[in-house]
Amino acid sequence: MAKLEALKADITTLDVDAIVNAANTSLLGGGGVDGAIHRRAGKGLLRECETLGGCETGDAKITRGYDLPAKHVIHAVGPRWSGGRKNESELLANCYRRSLELAQEAGCESIAFPAISCGIYHFPPEQAVKIAVRTVIDTLPSTPAVQRVVFVCFQDDMLARYRAELDAAKA
Ligand code: AR6
Repeated sequence: MAKLEALKADITTLDVDAIVNAANTSLLGGGGVDGAIHRRAGKGLLRECETLGGCETGDAKITRGYDLPAKHVIHAVGPRWSGGRKNESELLANCYRRSLELAQEAGCESIAFPAISCGIYHFPPEQAVKIAVRTVIDTLPSTPAVQRVVFVCFQDDMLARYRAELDAAKA
C-alpha cells in the first residue's frame, strides 16, 4: 500500500513527480493555487496549456513542470460548489481518480494534491476531505506506480481534517 500523508506547505515547493493543480476549464491560469503554480513554473507551462484545448470539470490533463521542482503538473478541474445539487461530490471524486490515472500513465511514484475546490470554488471542506481520502484509497490499487500521496494544506484547520481522516482510514 502506498504511503499517504498530509503536510502544511506551499505545493509549488515540493520535489515530487507530480503536483496537482486546482485549475479551471480553460487551463489558462487563475488565482489561488493555480496562479501560484503558473507563476513558479514560468511561461513554458502556459504555452503547453494553450495547446490542450481546455478540460471538462471532473477531468484532468498532464503537462511538464517547467521551472517547478515537480516533474509534472496534473491540471484537475474541480466543481464549483452550488449547494450540492449539481453532482459536485462525484465530480470532485473524478478529479482525484483521473489525476491518479494520469500519474500512473506517466510513471509517477509521488504525487501531491491541494484541497481541490476548497478555496475559490467553496466546496465544504469536511465533505471534500472525506471524498479526497476515500477516492485516493479506492483508486490506488489500480495505480501501482504511485507509492506516495501527499495532501497539501495551506491552513492548520485543513491539515487537522486530513490527519483525522487519514487516521480514521488506517484504523
Ligand atoms: N499550496 C497549497 N495549497 C494552496 C496554495 C498553495 N500554493 N494556494 C492555495 N492553496 P483554490 P479551487 C489552497 O482557490 O477552490 C483558480 O482561480 C487553498 O487554501 O486555489 O479549486 C482556478 O483557476 C485551498 O484550500 O482552488 C479556478 O478558477 C485549495 O488550495 C479556481 O481558482 C484550493 O483553493 C479553482 O478554485
